Amino acid sequence: MTADLVLNDSSLLPAVGFGLFQVPPEITEQVVLDGVAAGYRLLDGAEFYTNEVEAGRALAQVDRSDLRVASKFWGEESQDRDAVLRSFDASERALDGLDIYLIHWPRASRNQYVDVWRTLIELRDGGRVRTIGVSNFTEAHLQRLIDETGVVPAINQVETHPWLPQHELRAFHARHGIVTQAWSPLGRGRLLEDPVLGAVARRHGVSTAQVIVRWHVQLGGAVLPRSTNPDRLRSNRQIEGFVLDDRDMAEIATLDCGRRTGSHPDDRQ
Ligand code: A2P
Repeated sequence: MTADLVLNDSSLLPAVGFGLFQVPPEITEQVVLDGVAAGYRLLDGAEFYTNEVEAGRALAQVDRSDLRVASKFWGEESQDRDAVLRSFDASERALDGLDIYLIHWPRASRNQYVDVWRTLIELRDGGRVRTIGVSNFTEAHLQRLIDETGVVPAINQVETHPWLPQHELRAFHARHGIVTQAWSPLGRGRLLEDPVLGAVARRHGVSTAQVIVRWHVQLGGAVLPRSTNPDRLRSNRQIEGFVLDDRDMAEIATLDCGRRTGSHPDDRQ
């Protein structure tokens, strides 16, 4: 099994989790059951995905003792303390408890993310959630949280994949003990057609998705590949039987072109 990552609050984070972004509510219960059956120990949800009630139905049927459940504060309408607490309550209720809570986007033009972070600190210090972190934060946003609160996020979940390896952000994370967790790690599936990755996969006799998941883990990050298909869910986390060597990593590095499949952190307000 791929080793867990140690977070700055001393808890353990499974390196490979599965995410519920764009999973339709009507199949979410089954996808969560399939994910748990496939051995995933980290479920990445969010208020915005509008499938937490359905995910909670599945979680009520499984052994949760070894499972980490994450959600995120959306904050499009309001970012004040009451709004954060209301959102947290709703996600906590739907999922019957939360292990990880993240700020989904900084929404920096509103200039409230430091206050949102203070509310997450309050939730953590009150024992409501073990791990707090952020998503889609740049170095500047992270630095401001650290300077103004002294509390370093445990996780920054950002778009990361071979087209967008995020070297500078990763280096900042490494200096501050923040885990990089990749969303859209397969480039929303578009990287699965890439010939360079296909050639690496053929050399190792594995799937292109397995190569990409392995690449994320070998760079020291956490990764959230998404699939609604039980066979793909299962195979995407089976990355123990091979290692990407220097040649593989060098070839994959040539794909870096800064291409995004989702919003830039500064564009979502
Ligand atoms: P599906 O749900 O039909 O498997 P990302 O994690 O980068 O957002 O990519 C998710 C997309 O990649 C989904 O469309 C998913 O489709 C597809 N996908 C995930 N795993 C695989 C795989 N092993 N082979 C082919 N497509 C995959």
